[in-house]
Amino acid sequence: MTKYKIAVIGLSFGGWVIENELKGNEYFEIDSVCDLNAEKARSWGEKLGVPYYTDMERLFSERDIKAVALITGPKGRGALIRKCIERGIHVMTTKPFELLASEAEKTLSFAEEKGIQVFANSPRMVPTGEMRRIREMIRDYDLGRPVAYYGSTWCSYREKPDGTWYDDPSLCPVAPVFRLGIYLINDLSQIFCGVDGVSVSESRIFTGRPTADNASLTIRHKDGSIGTIFASFCIDDLDYYKCSYILHFERGSIYKGVLPDERRDEVSLQLSCKYKGEHVMLDERIPVSESGYQWKEFRDAIDGHRSPNCIGSETIVSAIRILEKMKECAQIR
Ligand SMILES: NC(=O)c1ccc[n+]([C@@H]2O[C@H](COP(=O)([O-])OP(=O)(O)OC[C@H]3O[C@@H](n4cnc5c(N)ncnc54)[C@H](O)[C@@H]3O)[C@@H](O)[C@H]2O)c1
Repeated sequence: MTKYKIAVIGLSFGGWVIENELKGNEYFEIDSVCDLNAEKARSWGEKLGVPYYTDMERLFSERDIKAVALITGPKGRGALIRKCIERGIHVMTTKPFELLASEAEKTLSFAEEKGIQVFANSPRMVPTGEMRRIREMIRDYDLGRPVAYYGSTWCSYREKPDGTWYDDPSLCPVAPVFRLGIYLINDLSQIFCGVDGVSVSESRIFTGRPTADNASLTIRHKDGSIGTIFASFCIDDLDYYKCSYILHFERGSIYKGVLPDERRDEVSLQLSCKYKGEHVMLDERIPVSESGYQWKEFRDAIDGHRSPNCIGSETIVSAIRILEKMKECAQIR
């Protein structure tokens, strides 16, 4: 298969994406790199032996690329994506998609109008195996109305302030939820939608940054369901980055990855429900994908074979509405 040429824009975490996702990628080859910071651009360009830029417009004029991996910060990401769309360039980006739901909505409808593919690592455009199985359980066992959920994710950081957006509560509100809990918000927005109100609780235990390292967010949805997401950088149990959750419905509960597990390539999924008057219990293991970014699905979509299972833009936008409310709530307190 001929690989499509891709430029990587934004070279902080973008460096990780290069090393772990794009080097040796089956579907894309790195054509060029770009960062506003000339030193970062130069060092990555020289390391990879590719042209480097500090201005993405200039890169677009000089390089013939099919796609970009846009790994800049979330503020103003919509406007940058629209510049790519105007040039007919497909975009793989990262979470959070945008800080503003209105900007995300505008960008995704522009992409649709122009027939350009815009993918992000979270929410995954094509729902993962476990999300598809959860949806099947909800449907096949007629679980009924959503009632509640508890999600948690953690890792162990002991960070120092470095003057980046991670230090700024207005750009990185309720930091552990914004940086890690976002994966849970994005996943669960596929099932629980329409935010009515939120409350947050956050603290600083080990961090040297002004932003929190331990936090929870409680979301009241428009249908009356209530969810809590806990995220922390304080737990050094080596069971990092797992997004586990319990979902409660009118007639049943689903448990994903709730107990510690040595295997990282599969996740446990349990169902306990009342179905046709009987107590049904299922205990399954579902394979999880290694890569955080759906390069194959992105490539297929560029080639005109977009999966019919792709999530709609409303799922992405409704997750950002939660972030907007979370930021407001964090400012009010
Ligand atoms: N697991 C993950 O997927 C994961 C992990 C960490 C961070 N992230 C996400 O990656 C994104 C970037 O995070 P980061 O820590 O690298 O942020 P950062 O602010 O440290 O780096 C962003 C880089 O993009 C560059 N940049 C910004 N605007 C640009 C533009 N218009 N043209 C060219 N370069 C530009 C900046 O100069 C900077 O070097 C965030 O959205 C973050 O949430 C994802």
